[in-house]
Amino acid sequence: MKSINFMTMKPCCRVLISRKISPFLGIPLPKSHQFFAPNSSAFQFNHSLHTAPKTRIVNLQSILKENQQPFFAPSSTRGQSRIFSGSCLCGKLSHRGIYVIARVASVRNYSTSVETRVNDKNFERIYVQGGLNVKPLVVEKIDLDENIVSNEEPNVKVGEDSLDDKSSDGLSSVEAVKNVGREQSEVDKEAWRLLENAVVSYCGSPVGTLAANDPNDKLPLNYDQVFIRDFVPSALAFLLKGDSEIVRNFLLHTLQLQSWEKTVDCYSPGQGLMPASFKVRTVPLDENKFEEVLDPDFGESAIGRVAPVDSGLWWIILLRAYGKITGDYALQERVDVQTGIKLILNLCLSDGFDMFPSLLVTDGSCMIDRRMGIHGHPLEIQALFYSALRCSREMLRVDDGSKNLIRAINNRLSALSFHIREYYWVDMKKINEIYRYKTEEYSTEATNKFNIYPEQIPHWLMDWIPEKGGYLIGNLQPAHMDFRFFTLGNLWSIVSSLGTPKQNEAILNLIEAKWDDLVGLMPLKICYPALESEEWRIITGSDPKNTPWSYHNGGSWPTLLWQFTLACMKMGRMDLAKKAVDLAETRLPADRWPEYYDTRYGKFVGKQARLYQTWTIAGYLTSKMLLENPEMASLLFWEEDYDLLEICVCALSKSGRKKCSRGAAKSQILV
Ligand code: GLC
Repeated sequence: MKSINFMTMKPCCRVLISRKISPFLGIPLPKSHQFFAPNSSAFQFNHSLHTAPKTRIVNLQSILKENQQPFFAPSSTRGQSRIFSGSCLCGKLSHRGIYVIARVASVRNYSTSVETRVNDKNFERIYVQGGLNVKPLVVEKIDLDENIVSNEEPNVKVGEDSLDDKSSDGLSSVEAVKNVGREQSEVDKEAWRLLENAVVSYCGSPVGTLAANDPNDKLPLNYDQVFIRDFVPSALAFLLKGDSEIVRNFLLHTLQLQSWEKTVDCYSPGQGLMPASFKVRTVPLDENKFEEVLDPDFGESAIGRVAPVDSGLWWIILLRAYGKITGDYALQERVDVQTGIKLILNLCLSDGFDMFPSLLVTDGSCMIDRRMGIHGHPLEIQALFYSALRCSREMLRVDDGSKNLIRAINNRLSALSFHIREYYWVDMKKINEIYRYKTEEYSTEATNKFNIYPEQIPHWLMDWIPEKGGYLIGNLQPAHMDFRFFTLGNLWSIVSSLGTPKQNEAILNLIEAKWDDLVGLMPLKICYPALESEEWRIITGSDPKNTPWSYHNGGSWPTLLWQFTLACMKMGRMDLAKKAVDLAETRLPADRWPEYYDTRYGKFVGKQARLYQTWTIAGYLTSKMLLENPEMASLLFWEEDYDLLEICVCALSKSGRKKCSRGAAKSQILV
């Protein structure tokens, strides 16, 4: 196992973020940094504040530095617990920062207790008390007085969470994977070379991979950035190979990006938002000196200004995978990392106008990051949300400050899985039911709860749905079911057990039965079928990139191969995974690892597909390694949680006044 050498990181590494003023409880803050009197809060933090809007340049070197003098910064009930900048002399800027890491007891708590209150949001109050639910107290250290730091007594130790602190399961397995890697095919060797070439360094340390790395691409747009979602298969490939440094760095650096206030036209999204991507930029200093800065994009530059809702969910999923594969659980136990998880959850679990337990998002908030008619409650986001909740429940430290949050997670898991299993599921029988639906039913006991008009069932579906098999539809809104098959959401529902065991099996049966449509000549279609004619014009806004059977509109995306492999392995269908990997193995290197393929069966390299697309390459490598190491794959998926299913948090079941729809349907979906 490669050990992480933080000492090799060079100074002058910063984050460059444009932000607006962050008044503290409505009172403008003084320019200098401020400290609050220590109290007994579990969260220790530090911060400094600026009152003028400006571009922030933040030193991040210390995030990962092991031997830095720690500083036990005073806490506040309103502050937040983060790790921030450290010693750095960059050009004229001389700053001394603060590094706070509390050693968290390495007890791995896990709770499935669910309280019988549907909308228990008490965890939010806990956040405020714990200092997590406030607009950011900006934690930058520019022009600081070094003495303040050096005079403070460290109450916590830094670097106690090193990679040496491992549980046994992870490491030994990683070694096993490494050994398998010895006999590589020529294709695998090329893929590894390309993946290594795509690695992005920041201050001398690897922090991620470029989205695409085609030397002949003169107009890379933002494909020269590190995308959070794109990095996941790269991370898994590296982890499975036994190289965890890049993943650890990525997790910690993106965590820092999360903490900043960001704006689109003077409006700030929630604090827990993770960027869609980031870029390492070189900024000139005085006297021919340069420094590196991290420049995140939270959607303020992205085409269409789409909010990357999936980024935070992927970050949580990757954090858990990192722990599982390396055995380094100390990383997820760090106070700043725990806080990062809570901030993401806070965004996802906060009250809104929703009537459903599913997450309400705008169009383009996930892998499909432009207009494709998936606003509302798209399956992909729900499946990632469910997975992130399951991951968080495993990783959150159980204490007085987190118990309400954990209760809320359990309640949401339970309600969300019921909702998706019951209302998103379609197979022949269910379609026939919808076909005979009565409409305009006003009552809590309606069968057709969402007032779906049977005429909505598309003609293609009636012929297409096989006798054996079924799937989860793409979206559900009042009077609207999006019957398209979205691959990522369905695969991730299998992986996370959002679907019932029977449903999960049926999804793979459907993929097998509809192999030509969903896999064809290149695994796998991002969605099926494509929007055509008027539908395409209205729903995509006449998007020339999303023409029928291209790009997000029914294009074939090889990166989906690793998720397909994982889902197949979980369900004992290695045969299907191997068949798909074989297809990819012959075509991808010959076609120079494209981003996506076009046409109904994925015959052509996509019209505007990038070549040497990193997540295509990494997805292929990860699939191969998972197939060779089933024990590793099993660390990455979840089995059914029967405890959650047993508990109905709905008060109706207790009162007996009204029928609980969940109770009525439970017998059907539990099987
Ligand atoms: C495209 C994809 C998106 C991906 C990005 C970088 O925008 O739709 O999912 O993250 O390219 O590869």
